[in-house]
Amino acid sequence: MSSHPAAPPADGPGRRTRVAVVFGGRSEEHSISCATAASVLRAMDRERYDVVPIGITREGHWVLVDDDPEALEIRDGRLPHVPDTGRQVIVPLGGLDQDLRVVATDGTVADLGPVDVVFPLLHGPFGEDGTIQGLLELADIRYVGCGVLASAAMMDKHVMKVLFSSAGLAVGPYTVITDLDWRRDRAAALDAAASLHFPVFVKPARAGSSMGVVKVDGPEELEAAVDKARSHDPKVLVEQGIAGREIECGVLQGRGADVPRISEVGEITVVGGGHEFYDFEAKYLDEASVRIQVPAGVSDGVRAQVREVARRAFEVAGCEGLARVDCFVTEAGEVLINEINTMPGFTPFSMYPQAWAASGVSYPELVDELIQLALARPLGLR
Ligand SMILES: Nc1ncnc2c1ncn2[C@@H]1O[C@H](COP(=O)(O)OP(=O)(O)O)[C@@H](O)[C@H]1O
Ligand SMILES: [Mg+2]
Repeated sequence: MSSHPAAPPADGPGRRTRVAVVFGGRSEEHSISCATAASVLRAMDRERYDVVPIGITREGHWVLVDDDPEALEIRDGRLPHVPDTGRQVIVPLGGLDQDLRVVATDGTVADLGPVDVVFPLLHGPFGEDGTIQGLLELADIRYVGCGVLASAAMMDKHVMKVLFSSAGLAVGPYTVITDLDWRRDRAAALDAAASLHFPVFVKPARAGSSMGVVKVDGPEELEAAVDKARSHDPKVLVEQGIAGREIECGVLQGRGADVPRISEVGEITVVGGGHEFYDFEAKYLDEASVRIQVPAGVSDGVRAQVREVARRAFEVAGCEGLARVDCFVTEAGEVLINEINTMPGFTPFSMYPQAWAASGVSYPELVDELIQLALARPLGLR
């Protein structure tokens, strides 16, 4: 893939583009985000990019960290985290300049200078949900990926379904249990959920990495499953189980006014390890039990349908940069959309980069392209 013509704020004579890579964060996907950052830091071309690694601790402190990908990897089942380095990063909001600052534990302030673009590699709430995007909008700093609205709407599996079904995309049957529903009339909420066909999947509305997702085979297990999902998010979805294959597809924003680019489709199959579905352990700790196959062995018709659903979903949601669209394909060949991830798993072994690799875009090229798309984007309302 050829690179873009020089984007406005970057690549000036003798100057590398400064990219702040932001990772970790307050969500339960903190460690996954660190692992993603390790891969992205490794892939960034240091001839072109000056990298500023910023970690967000589990408590939410922004800290300048060492550029040390190895420390951020998942190793032998050990989940990495952002250490509190005591070098606090401050993002100026709407002020006179856009220089980031670092405050040391003794209170001394150092000027880090401006960054051209932020690459927010955050998954889940307080990262993938529009919050960091809002902060960067206020700070007038360009960033990779979806904006505030798309990030927030696509984080919430309920809002996502409402938008998709209003656009004519097929979603499976479901009910929603809000915090108020649960506290006001738990029996009614459970009755409504039990009217779906079992098995059902109970899940937090705003989580990821299969955190808090429970497969429920009968009404007697429902209440405990809702309580479990509620420990991740007070808003819960109960979805009818879909008997189908999990087929996923990557979308990459087009350059300029071009239409979004759609990758080859891939399939996730859980092949062993006693996992009943694609759960957290299967995703990150027991990789031998999962097969990612790109291109998926599906008919041309199904392939075309999934790619079309992915294109429509990206546009309906108003996504920018990237998204991965996950579908179920039933025995009858029906394509239902399960979800869209605005910051999908992004290690070289994750589905999104693999889908692009199979479509002729290597991992470093993908990282590069996402940064260039962000640099080319105007600030403010788009
Ligand atoms: N309605 C459903 N029918 C069948 N399997 C499901 C359903 N919902 C979720 N799953 C299974 O659970 C996994 C995680 O659910 P998902 O909604 O994708 O949550 P997350 O955002 O945590 O990835 C899916 O990849 C799939 O294996
Ligand atoms: Mg998923």
